Amino acid sequence: MIVDTRELSADACYKLMTGVVVPRPIAWVTTVSSAGVVNLAPFSHFTFVAPKPPMVAISIGRKGEGMKDTARNILDNEEFVVHIARSSQVAPLHTSAMDLPPETSEAELLGLAMLPCNEVKPPRLADAPIAMECRLRHSMELGDTRNRLIIGEVILLHFAEGILQDGKIDTRKLDPLCRLAGPHYASLGEILTLPPIGQPAK
Ligand SMILES: Cc1cc2nc3c(=O)[nH]c(=O)nc-3n(C[C@H](O)[C@H](O)[C@H](O)COP(=O)(O)O)c2cc1C
Repeated sequence: MIVDTRELSADACYKLMTGVVVPRPIAWVTTVSSAGVVNLAPFSHFTFVAPKPPMVAISIGRKGEGMKDTARNILDNEEFVVHIARSSQVAPLHTSAMDLPPETSEAELLGLAMLPCNEVKPPRLADAPIAMECRLRHSMELGDTRNRLIIGEVILLHFAEGILQDGKIDTRKLDPLCRLAGPHYASLGEILTLPPIGQPAK
């Protein structure tokens, strides 16, 4: 079967592509509005895009004619915190996607404990296994839907106890939550370990 994306609506393309590009990591993002309200929302159009300085990218869709609170806060204040959630945090992460007015904080509503960051104004989630303090580096609009691609420099990383061992992440301990299409999530299954490239398997 062949699908020609030029014949599909934006919604149909979204549904198709979010099923194709799986599993996706999830950026659970805190920002602060110019009025000082802490905003929390998940974004699975998210990945690591450059190593030095380390940069991560998030693509944020529009909310009607306007911007989602996260995009507006990042463009206004240039700072954000990206958290990686454990699979056990699926319920609060999913609920934090609720559409609330900018003056209401999802983090406060959900009763999630927060800690101050070292370098940026938004606070970080106390119970996230990883929190990355980020500063906006680049931003651009993409396509007819005017998705806002945000690229941020990761300035500081916070790791919960036991996650970083001898400079390496213990992925089993991290137990990251992954996004599939629609309301579907996944946790890690089997981890396949191969020999380094260039050394044929014995
Ligand atoms: C797991 C998950 C991943 C999501 N990923 C994205 C995404 O990559 N881009 C996006 O625009 N919205 C995404 N959403 C929807 C936003 O989280 C949602 O629109 C949220 O209300 C935005 O909040 P804000 O207006 O406070 O920024 C996702 C929702 C969930 C539950």
